Amino acid sequence: MVSRVIPVDPFDLVIFGGTGDLARRKILPGLFRRFCAGQMPESSQIIGAARSDLDDAAYRKMVGDAIAEFGGGRACDSGTLDAFLKTVHYVKTDAKGDGGWAELNDRIQQDRVRAFYFSVGPSLFGDLAERLHRFGLATPQSRIVVEKPFGHDLESAKALNATLAEHFDETQIYRIDHYLGKETVQNLMAVRFGNMLFEPLWNAQYVDHIQITVAETVGVGGRGGYYDKSGAMRDMMQNHLMQLLCLIAMEPPAKFDPDAVRDEKLKVIRALEPVEPHHIVRGQYAPTKNEPGYRDDVDDPKSRTESFIALKCHISNWRWAGTPFYLRTGKRLKARTSEIAVVFKDAPHSIFGVDAGRHRNVLAIRLQPNEGMTLDVTIKEPGPGGMRLLDVPLDMSFAEALGPEAEEAPDAYERLIMDVIRGNQTLFMRGDEVEAAWAWTDPLIAGWQDRNDVPKEYDAGSSGPEDALMLMHRDGRKWREIKV
Ligand SMILES: NC(=O)c1ccc[n+]([C@@H]2O[C@H](COP(=O)([O-])OP(=O)(O)OC[C@H]3O[C@@H](n4cnc5c(N)ncnc54)[C@H](OP(=O)(O)O)[C@@H]3O)[C@@H](O)[C@H]2O)c1
Repeated sequence: MVSRVIPVDPFDLVIFGGTGDLARRKILPGLFRRFCAGQMPESSQIIGAARSDLDDAAYRKMVGDAIAEFGGGRACDSGTLDAFLKTVHYVKTDAKGDGGWAELNDRIQQDRVRAFYFSVGPSLFGDLAERLHRFGLATPQSRIVVEKPFGHDLESAKALNATLAEHFDETQIYRIDHYLGKETVQNLMAVRFGNMLFEPLWNAQYVDHIQITVAETVGVGGRGGYYDKSGAMRDMMQNHLMQLLCLIAMEPPAKFDPDAVRDEKLKVIRALEPVEPHHIVRGQYAPTKNEPGYRDDVDDPKSRTESFIALKCHISNWRWAGTPFYLRTGKRLKARTSEIAVVFKDAPHSIFGVDAGRHRNVLAIRLQPNEGMTLDVTIKEPGPGGMRLLDVPLDMSFAEALGPEAEEAPDAYERLIMDVIRGNQTLFMRGDEVEAAWAWTDPLIAGWQDRNDVPKEYDAGSSGPEDALMLMHRDGRKWREIKV
C-alpha cells in the first residue's frame, strides 16, 4: 500500500510558546516529519515566538536539539534537517507586552495562510488574540490554534469563546484535542460509517453496554500544581473521553464535513443525562515504598482532587435509551492503554442450552498502544466431547495489517497541524461543543464538592479503586482488564 502525501500550500506558522515543552516535544518534531514526508513546502515559515532572548541561529539550534531528542527516529538525512531549519525563525514576543509584534508582522508573508499556535498557558489566550488583532496580524487568512485546557468550567469557557470571537470568526478557531488526531480515533468513523456490518446493530437493542478506558501509568509528576486545580474530570473526562463517547455514540452525519460531524457530536453531549452521585467513583493513587502518592506529588496532604475517575452515564435518545456507558480514566494504573469496547447483548435464545454458558460479542477498539481492533466471536471448542463454546478474538493490529505504512502514519499533532493549514475543522472542537461538555461536567463537580466527597485511595499499578470495579459488578458486568 502506498501512502498518499498531498503537499499543502506554503504557509506561515507562528508558535507562541515556541520554546516550551509542547513545542519542543510535539509541534516542531511533527512539522519536521511532515517536511520529510514532502507535505510541508520549503518556502513555508515556522516562527517561534516567546519572551526568551534568542535569535534565529539560537532558536534553530534549540529546534534541531528537540528534533534529535523527540523526532521519532524516522529516516531523514542531515541535508533535509538543514533545509527544514532554514524555514525556522524566531521573534522575541511578549503576549502581555507590545514588544516584538511589529517585527512579527513584518516577518509574515502576505496572501498566504497564516496560523498562530497558542502553545502557552491559557491565561495568555485572550492577550494573544487581542494583540494579533491590534497589530494587524489577524487577517481573513488567519487561523488560531488553541491548546487545552479550554476553560476551567462553563463560565470561563464562555468567557474565552467570547474573547476569541471578538477578533476571530468561528471558522478561524481550531480548538485542539490531540485525541481526535489519532489514527484509530478517526478509524472509529470509518468502521462505523464505512461498513454495513456494524451500524444496524449499533443501538440499545443489540448493545448491552459500552466501556471506554484511558489509563496512564505515570503520576502527575512535575505538573502537580496545575493538575491539583484540575483533576481527572477536567483534565481528561470533559474533553478526551467525551470526544470518544461522541464518536462512538453519534448519529451518522450526512457527510464527512466539519459542521455535519460536529453537529452530531454536539447532539450526543446535549443528550447526556446528569450522572447520579453513586455512579461516580473518584480516586487518588496511594504512595508505594519507593514512590510518592498523589497527595505527596501535589504537596497537599488534604487534597481532594481525583487522579482517577470512573462513571456510568446514559444518553437519552432513541438510539441509546437504557444502554449504560461506563467511562474511566486515571493515573498510575496498571498499564498505559486506551480502549473502547462495545459489548453486544447475549443471543436471544441459546440452542446449545444453559450449559453452554454465556457468550457475547465484543468489539474492542485499541487506540494505544498497538492500535487495532478485536472482535470476539463465539465458536465451537475444537475436539470431541460435544458442543462446547469458546470466545476467540478476530484480532487486527494496524501495524500488521498495514505494514510500514501504519508506522509512517503521521502522529496526532502532525495531522492536526496540516488540517489547520488546509482549513479542515472536522477534528477540532467547536465552541458550542466545548460549552455543552462543561455544562454537563460542572454540576457533577459541584455535586461532589458540596458533599465534601473524599476520593478513595487506590494502589499504584492497580486498576483503580475497588468501588470502580463495584460500579460495574453491581450491574452484573465487569470492566475489561487494563493491559497492554
Ligand atoms: N506539554 C504538553 O504535553 C501539553 C499537552 C497538552 C496541552 N498543553 C498545553 O499547551 C500549552 C503550553 O504548554 P507547555 O507544556 O509547552 O508549557 P511550557 O513548557 O511552560 O511553555 C510555555 C511557553 O510559553 C512561553 N511564554 C510564557 N509566558 C509568555 C509571554 N508572556 N509571552 C510569550 N510567551 C510566553 C514560554 O516561553 P518564554 O518563557 O521564553 O516566554 C514557553 O515557550 C499549555 O496551555 C498547556 O496546557 C501542553
